[in-house]
Amino acid sequence: MSTSQDAVPSSSVPPSERGNAPILQGKGLVKTFGRVIGLDGVDLELYPGEVLAVIGDNGAGKSTLIKCLSGAYTIDAGELTLDGHTVKFSKPQDAREAGIETVYQQLAVIPALDIASNLYLAREERRPGILGSVFRMLDKKGMRDRASTSVQNLGIQTIQNMGVAVESLSGGQRQAVAVARAAAFGSKVVILDEPTAALGVKEGNAVLDMIKQLRESGVPVIVISHNMPHVWEVADRIHIQRLARRAAVITPQSHTMGEGVAIMTGAMTVEGVESGRAAG
Ligand SMILES: Nc1ncnc2c1ncn2[C@@H]1O[C@H](COP(=O)(O)OP(=O)(O)O)[C@@H](O)[C@H]1O
Ligand SMILES: [Mg+2]
Repeated sequence: MSTSQDAVPSSSVPPSERGNAPILQGKGLVKTFGRVIGLDGVDLELYPGEVLAVIGDNGAGKSTLIKCLSGAYTIDAGELTLDGHTVKFSKPQDAREAGIETVYQQLAVIPALDIASNLYLAREERRPGILGSVFRMLDKKGMRDRASTSVQNLGIQTIQNMGVAVESLSGGQRQAVAVARAAAFGSKVVILDEPTAALGVKEGNAVLDMIKQLRESGVPVIVISHNMPHVWEVADRIHIQRLARRAAVITPQSHTMGEGVAIMTGAMTVEGVESGRAAG
């Protein structure tokens, strides 16, 4: 780190009123791809009830970090804990079963299927009793009803009919389905990789509202975004990833967008290791 750069004192971070134990924590996470270092000993904390944004330049390791949290990649070193217990994920299903739902950059929906089917993709519910257990009949009505409830819970009023094919929906509505899918399964943590990148202004705002609703419903969210106004609007804390490491954790109150971008690009450094949660 250069000494000629401006340093922001960590005391500028306001105290947090949230609980003390992270629900999801990564300690010293390492992930390499041959000679390329994707993550070089990264710490991450997600606290109950918060939206944690992850920002960083291209190649900083944001997607790699998220993939390690969601079981798409296995970490080479370091430790992951969920609810205080060490977890080891070797496939996405492991993380999902532990309660971590991830919506990837690429829209995670199948356009030709209807909304309810998309919501229940890979976990279709069987009819109760012998019809389901022996005849393997899908509980289509139940799935639609529950799909409808979860979409409504997220305040997506524009989607009325759960039987409509997802290909007829707008980009924002499709993203909404992907988020609703992630939120619909009693998840402990929802992770979104660039949820508003492919969306227009209005749709992007709708997804932001959904993120806020998720937080209100008690589900903590990790969201990767390049959209600084979105990040400053929705995040409780901001994890800044730079050159495969965590450069800082700031809050929208402690730092301006310009300062956040300066830390991201290395134009500004931060004293010590901030957590964005000053003691007290
Ligand atoms: N599957 C992979 N194979 C080889 N290198 C990878 C792979 N995934 C990511 N990387 C490398 O790891 C680094 C971090 O990438 P990534 O996590 O995608 O960054 P970001 O999402 O912040 O743009 C980059 O140098 C990238 O080229
Ligand atoms: Mg990425």
